[in-house]
Order: sequence, then structure tokens, then C-alpha cells
Amino acid sequence: MTATTYGIQLTDTHLFEDPEARLWDVAPDPMLDRVLREVERVADKARFLLVTGDCSSDGSPASYERLVRKLSRFDLPIYYLPGNHDDAGLMARLLGGMDLPPCRKWTQTFEVGDWRFVLLDTSVPGEDGGELGDEQRAWLRRTLAQYPQSPTIVVMHHNPVPVGSEWLDTMTLADRNALSAILETSPQVRAVLFGHVHQVFECRANGTRYLSAPSTFFQFKPRSRRFGRDDRSPGFRMIQLNGQTLRSAVYRTGEVPPPLM
Ligand SMILES: [Fe+2]
Repeated sequence: MTATTYGIQLTDTHLFEDPEARLWDVAPDPMLDRVLREVERVADKARFLLVTGDCSSDGSPASYERLVRKLSRFDLPIYYLPGNHDDAGLMARLLGGMDLPPCRKWTQTFEVGDWRFVLLDTSVPGEDGGELGDEQRAWLRRTLAQYPQSPTIVVMHHNPVPVGSEWLDTMTLADRNALSAILETSPQVRAVLFGHVHQVFECRANGTRYLSAPSTFFQFKPRSRRFGRDDRSPGFRMIQLNGQTLRSAVYRTGEVPPPLM
């Protein structure tokens, strides 16, 4: 019988140095606390936690330290990657125990059972939009070529596909076509997980699934021309890996949990 593995994706926690600070009239800290109470219900099934960027709103050391403290209640390996609001250099030092390499991008990989995770850094200092850049794409190509048989999930902050919201789709991944060309020749990549869009978006293109997770903080109105607030609750995504198959479900605070996968 094939073992089943679960993982949890949290994204866009947006903490500030001041735990009472608000953005768009909402305080990120209590929102995250509510989501983490939901995560507690399922965390004992999970083998790892992914935090897919915009961990901080202001790039302050205190915001990262508080996030680590809040997540330390889970006895799980936690993998962080940077978003456009983060300080990637500080995150790599504080959360990854390393300095950024000369290409200024923090790349990571890890294995869970037969599955391989490849975590990319799409952040560009001072920019809302993202980019992998030539060196990171070359690294991704090499990394995928090394493990052609391992079912793989690629993880990043920015959306590498448009989500149908005009204002958000101006700040996607600049080199997304080049990424797509790499993924087309890497059939082992089952899915790309991302954050940034503060809403659930799912599609399939050229054999790859693209899945976002809700922010733990503030939800953006889907398919909207301009910035707008959605009244859906914050939440997280849970993924299930079984053999070569990926399944996943989104949990939101105050809503009936999806059927147990
Ligand atoms: Fe964000």
C-alpha cells in the first residue's frame, strides 16, 4: 500500500513589527491566530509546512521572529520563501541560516517520501511584480533534470499564470513564459503552488496544475478590474501526496471544513 503524506501551505501572513498594526483596516496578527487554530485541527496529519511569501508587510526582524514563534507550536519542518513585501536577504539569514548567493535569490529543495519540492525566490527588491531571473531559471532546469523520475511540486510567491484580475495581473511573474517552457519539458512537475493573489485560483496548463492559497490575512476580490476586498474568510491549503497523485483542499476559518481527503 502507498503511504499518504500531507502538507500545509500558509501564505501572505503580512505581519508587521507592531503586532497591532493594520493594513486595509485589518490587523494581520489576529487573523493569522484564527487561521492557526484551524491548522491545529489537522496539523497532526501533516509532515511539513510551507509559508509562501509576504510573511512580513514591513520586512522587520520582529515580524519574522513573531511568525516563527507563532508557528513553533507545530512540531513540523517549516519552509519559508520570500514575497514582494519581504526582505529576502534578512529572511534567508533569519529563517534559512544562510546569506543570499551572488544571484541574490534564495532557492531551496526538500524531499518528502518520493516527492521533491523546489522552492523558488520570485522577489525583486523594490518591485511588486516578480521575476526568477536567468541564473535561477538555469538552476531550476539543472535541478529538475537531476531528478526526472521524482514527482515534483514547484513553489513560489508570485502567480506564474494570470488570474483574471486586471490590477493583480500587472504584477505577476515577468519571466513566466520562460518558466512555462521549462515546465513543459519537465513532466515530473505535478503542480506549482503560489501565494500573492490573496484568493483561491486553480487551473491546468500544459499538463501542470497551478494552485494558489487564500491569504491568512485579507482576501482580494477574484476577477476584479481594480483592487477590492472579498468577504471570504482567511484560510490555508492542505495537500495530499499519494503515490504519483496530488490532491488538495482549502480550509477557511468559520466555514465547514472540506471532507477529509
Ligand atoms: Fe501579499
